[in-house]
Amino acid sequence: MLSINEPGSETASFFQRIGGETHIRELVDAFYDVMDEDPQTDTVRRMHPDDLSGSRTKLYEFLVGWMGGPPLYMNKYGHPRLRMRHLPFEIDEAARDQWMHCMVIAMQRVGLDETLRRDLEKSLYAVADFMRNTQ
Ligand code: HEM
Repeated sequence: MLSINEPGSETASFFQRIGGETHIRELVDAFYDVMDEDPQTDTVRRMHPDDLSGSRTKLYEFLVGWMGGPPLYMNKYGHPRLRMRHLPFEIDEAARDQWMHCMVIAMQRVGLDETLRRDLEKSLYAVADFMRNTQ
């Protein structure tokens, strides 16, 4: 019998749709490359450390679990308490939109198909909007 997230069921997880850990790592690397290169996302870039390697690893580990793969982040750090962890940063609509911009370009760069891009964008937007802690 198929359980809900196994291949062939109607509701494949993002983890399955994207093709597992390697593709999530590529997406995260592309995401931070955009943040590093694109002057439009300067505000969000300046919130991050100069060396993005720790940020890359943490977002990768988080997204693997969030997408329905192994809970790499939880196993290391416990419950993400993501909103609380973002409180030190002033996240307004512009910062949220810069973060989403990096993600949208990254999804295009790694060549995710259009349906997956649209679905992921919608779900990640909800998380990004929840991180907002100021107008
Ligand atoms: C809305 C705009 C967002 C901004 C401006 C933002 C900014 C940041 C910053 C500055 C850090 C610290 C980086 C570091 O210490 O290396 C961080 C950490 C993190 N962010 Fe975001 N973020 C946003 C949205 C999101 C979203 C939507 C997710 C998940 C889908 C996310 C997941 C994470 C994770 C997992 C960490 C690591 C937390 C830790 O263990 O320290 N962020 N974020």
